[in-house]
Amino acid sequence: MSIDSDRNLTSNALHQRTRTVRAGVEDDQHYGAVIPPLHLSTTYSFAGFAQPRKHDYSRSGNPTRDLLAQALADLEQGVGATVTATGMAAITTVLQLLQPGDLMLAPADCYGGSWRLLDALSRRNAFRLQWVNFRDPADWQPALRQNPRMLWLETPSNPLLRITDIAHVAAARPPGCVLVVDNTFLSPVLQNPLALGADIVVHSTTKYINGHSDVVGGAIISASTELAEQLAWWANCLGVTGSAFDSWLTLRGLRTLPLRMQQHQVTAQCVAEFLQSHAAINKVHYPGLASHPEHALAQTQQRGFGAIISFELLGGESEVAAMLEHLQHISLAESLGGVESLICHPATMTHAAMTTSARQRAGISAGLIRLSVGLEHADDLINDLQQALTQCTAGKQQQPAGQAAARVQKKTGKLSEVSHELL
Ligand SMILES: Cc1ncc(COP(=O)(O)O)c(C=O)c1O
Repeated sequence: MSIDSDRNLTSNALHQRTRTVRAGVEDDQHYGAVIPPLHLSTTYSFAGFAQPRKHDYSRSGNPTRDLLAQALADLEQGVGATVTATGMAAITTVLQLLQPGDLMLAPADCYGGSWRLLDALSRRNAFRLQWVNFRDPADWQPALRQNPRMLWLETPSNPLLRITDIAHVAAARPPGCVLVVDNTFLSPVLQNPLALGADIVVHSTTKYINGHSDVVGGAIISASTELAEQLAWWANCLGVTGSAFDSWLTLRGLRTLPLRMQQHQVTAQCVAEFLQSHAAINKVHYPGLASHPEHALAQTQQRGFGAIISFELLGGESEVAAMLEHLQHISLAESLGGVESLICHPATMTHAAMTTSARQRAGISAGLIRLSVGLEHADDLINDLQQALTQCTAGKQQQPAGQAAARVQKKTGKLSEVSHELL
């Protein structure tokens, strides 16, 4: 399991890291600009009557957006991609493939915004929806007899980091049924669902792909030309394509994605091990921990464990509030995947749109906290978490401050191959 094990060694293909850095570089035909220019023009002149050039109107096609789409299609091993204005716009576009009466199976424990959209559209009869648990074949496989048209996976899931076996679901789907995977939590650097048999990948590029918490965006990558064309048609028709400036910024962020993911997850492993060792924490959900139920699956399906951790604090909302308010270097905010660490309380923030019973079914408790581990030094993050935990559990347990990451390393012996400089 290595972040760099993306290259098919029998081919001459470049490593993903090289392709990411070089995406669109030296594309400029006019001036030889090394970094691709930003094309803000909304419209393009026709070469003559009835002679459109490659682009005619920026909603339908834009050279800057096209470069980002090509880079993402390449990294996800797809044949084509559509860049959208938000992650939800990408999801909305994919849902256009369904007709009224079509059945869709979706995970009951997905991102709250996805849950809200699927729930709302199915209530308006845009399609039929069945919430399932894709980690339990007895729960979802009987529904295959009803001939579903779409299976929706989110793996790892938001916020509980549950992992679904993509290849297993892909092999089981009936003919004509489209398998869609939301790959936001890992990015194409750590997982390629199309290579595992999925038909479509969606991303909130707002997260790791852009990586700097300054662009909201989305993308859809397809395994077949037919799907790629249909989805590009719908994105143009709905008017949900991404802006040129956002695409330019996202392409800039993308160039460092492999390096960011590498560091994010080294730090996340340290933080997860620290949290697991803390007496105020009931449970830690992180695929990189041996205690995670799908740790073995994550090792084969993914090229890394990612950098989102969720954990359950002993007590309830008041302990959560006390802890979150005492953090000094981790921001209490929605979103994830940026260079800065963000922490949130899913029940009242990212998953507040779900009904109470839907949250209960998903396993999102009042004590659950989600942490997006950024690129700060691991010691600083651990010390900050430690002092905040101490504040909300005064008297329960005190751990000495200091080189906390090094202490976790010594205690578990698992991080010995990691250079302390990287932490
Ligand atoms: C897994 C997942 N998918 C989709 C989205 C929606 O993306 P956006 O906020 O860019 O619309 C999010 C947002 O948090 C998410 O976490």
